[in-house]
Amino acid sequence: MRITLNVWRQTGPDAHGRFERYDMPDATEHMSFLEMLDVVNNRLIEAGKEPIAFEHDCREGICGACGMVINGRPHGPKQRVTACQLHMRSFHDGDEIWIEPWRAAAFPVIRDLVVDRSPLDRIIQAGGYISAPTGGAVDANAMPIRKADADLAFDAATCIGCGACVAACPNGSAMLFTAAKVAHLALMPQGQPERYDRVISMVERMDEEGFGSCTNHGACESACPKGISLDFIAWLNRDLLKAALTR
Ligand code: SF4
Ligand code: FES
Repeated sequence: MRITLNVWRQTGPDAHGRFERYDMPDATEHMSFLEMLDVVNNRLIEAGKEPIAFEHDCREGICGACGMVINGRPHGPKQRVTACQLHMRSFHDGDEIWIEPWRAAAFPVIRDLVVDRSPLDRIIQAGGYISAPTGGAVDANAMPIRKADADLAFDAATCIGCGACVAACPNGSAMLFTAAKVAHLALMPQGQPERYDRVISMVERMDEEGFGSCTNHGACESACPKGISLDFIAWLNRDLLKAALTR
């Protein structure tokens, strides 16, 4: 397949960015999207040019590092698929592809397609520790937990912290991410002692980091590669209200 790429190039946080055009004359349907970018980068390096900076780690859809906007959609055209799990068979000969970094005030561009997602780490940090002695894996399995709660907590725990929800939201809100992280622990018996302090701290931190407010657009849910449900946002709001009334 012959593909034309338009890639956002930006040398640093304060530099002006622009799209640069690259010809990829020999993409195959078996390549992953990132392998295709690897080939483009090898050719740029051979030509003595700067390769395109993009983040990746696991390339298995589990670490959340590979965020980029592909043809206007976070992680590209396929639902519930991270950019690293996207394959070139999703594109056609002659296609033109536009690749950009996450666009959100709280995620400044570091270089090309790489943005600073550390605000998400600081929201998790604001949640603090749990004081319950949890022991090892064997002890955790010995603690009875309602199946419905365990399943819901597991659904929340599948959030990989990629930030696509923020990039998709017209307000640049991190509510879906924060809700998943809050619910993950609040549904477990081990998460109860700090439950209400935790939700307040995490939401306050989210606001301090410059994320926008949630106005129920739902774009986050449809962009999320892990299918984190909007129900978790309703869940967070209920816990936040209880926390405000009880604290
Ligand atoms: S909620 Fe979904 S889109 Fe947002 S950070 Fe988690 S996995 Fe990524
Ligand atoms: S590189 Fe880890 S999720 Fe894509």
